[in-house]
Amino acid sequence: MSADALRRAIADRSARVGVIGCGYVGLPLAVGFAKAGYSVVAIDVDPERVRKLRAGESYIRDVPSEAVAAHVKAGRLTATSDYGALRDAQIIFVAVPTPFDRAKQPDLSYIVRAAEGIASVLQKGQLVVLESTTYPGTTDEVMRPILERSGLHAGVDFYLAFSPERIDPGNKTFGIENTPKVVGGIDPESTALAGAALQVITQGRIHLVSSARVAELTKLLENTFRAVNIALVNELAMLCDRMGIDIWEVIDAAATKPYGFMPFYPGPGVGGHCIPVDPYYLAWKAREYDFHTKFIELAAETNLGMPFFTVARIRKQLNDAGRSLRDSRVLVLGASFKKDIDDARESAAIRVMEILKSEGAVVEYHDPYVPVIKLASPVFGNNSEHETLRSVDLDAGRLRRADCVVILVAHSSIDYAAILREAPLVFDAVNATRSRDRHAQVERL
Ligand SMILES: NC(=O)c1ccc[n+]([C@@H]2O[C@H](COP(=O)([O-])OP(=O)(O)OC[C@H]3O[C@@H](n4cnc5c(N)ncnc54)[C@H](O)[C@@H]3O)[C@@H](O)[C@H]2O)c1
Repeated sequence: MSADALRRAIADRSARVGVIGCGYVGLPLAVGFAKAGYSVVAIDVDPERVRKLRAGESYIRDVPSEAVAAHVKAGRLTATSDYGALRDAQIIFVAVPTPFDRAKQPDLSYIVRAAEGIASVLQKGQLVVLESTTYPGTTDEVMRPILERSGLHAGVDFYLAFSPERIDPGNKTFGIENTPKVVGGIDPESTALAGAALQVITQGRIHLVSSARVAELTKLLENTFRAVNIALVNELAMLCDRMGIDIWEVIDAAATKPYGFMPFYPGPGVGGHCIPVDPYYLAWKAREYDFHTKFIELAAETNLGMPFFTVARIRKQLNDAGRSLRDSRVLVLGASFKKDIDDARESAAIRVMEILKSEGAVVEYHDPYVPVIKLASPVFGNNSEHETLRSVDLDAGRLRRADCVVILVAHSSIDYAAILREAPLVFDAVNATRSRDRHAQVERL
């Protein structure tokens, strides 16, 4: 298919779309194209996810099952683990995980496997768009050579681009339809085609850049910006603790400035698999250029220290109440990496629980969205040893029995008034008890 033919197929909705990796990013993308009237094939290596999609069930909180079911019923959305289904697609998105390994080095194995899968079925005229967050150069230096093993040449026989995903799970204001997408291809034609495809689901909110590398670095700038600013307020929170100043009050006051200031909030650490992970991708790549990204390293050091600072504060609070952390019953509220979502990857709350347990506390947790978690044990030992914890019910008796209730995630559904009423001691790391009467038992980060 020529570039013009592909452009026409995008415009008249006859282009078939393939999405590889149907998780938090890929599933909304697949459903977005199905909603726009395209025929979509969802490819995932997880047979359970494929089974659910075929049955019209969603496993991502922000994607309603009704939407999946309607598109499956209408024949616009199919799911499979077989890459062979991509032979009929004209546009292929890749949204597989990009974690780091134990040494915090990029793990591109998922991208490599997806690219190998595409290469085995790649057709002339297809457009491949990588959406996974990664360091500048991945599309050109990692994806491209693997795809070209097919015997086809990028920019000649097929088109290749990168478009970073900006999805923000739990965000009710900004979703895939109203968040602008940045698009950069390995050549102008790839950029234009990927832009044409993506503008369909973003209502034209497309920002084209000159290369895939620019698009890749754009995403890392966005996330590094957050990591650095969160680290700054985390550092100030630690200083405020020594100075006896309420950091939350300071941030609220600074936020009244109508320009030049953007509020960021401290917490028990950064979680999810963007903010704590992505800056490392850039720091790793930078070393290839004899360059050390000092802001990134400093931010990482500060943010990684926050779970330990949080535990130190809990230890002190218990100490002031005449108890030691060892053998104290600590009831943790929240296990996900941020409020009102069910994703617990790289969660700072879990890190805090691991440290609490390693110091001898008896830890329970409650999270309405995360029924089970695995704690590494011991903290810096053999990471293959895990202990499973299950979310406990939250009732007045349990709150009263806890020596300390620790709020690590500010889920909206929790009755904070009941916690302040029943719990003997509360440590609030996320200011969830803000705007409630100051209570003698409450300490805030
Ligand atoms: N979750 C977010 O909020 C978010 C936001 C922006 C960017 N990102 C980035 O998007 C990418 C995907 O993240 P996610 O949160 O959607 O991950 P996820 O784990 O929710 O989903 C990834 C899916 O890919 C599947 N998969 C893995 N290897 C595969 C393969 N070889 N072939 C087919 N399927 C495969 C997995 O089974 C899983 O269903 C990552 O690079 C992430 O950094 C995520």
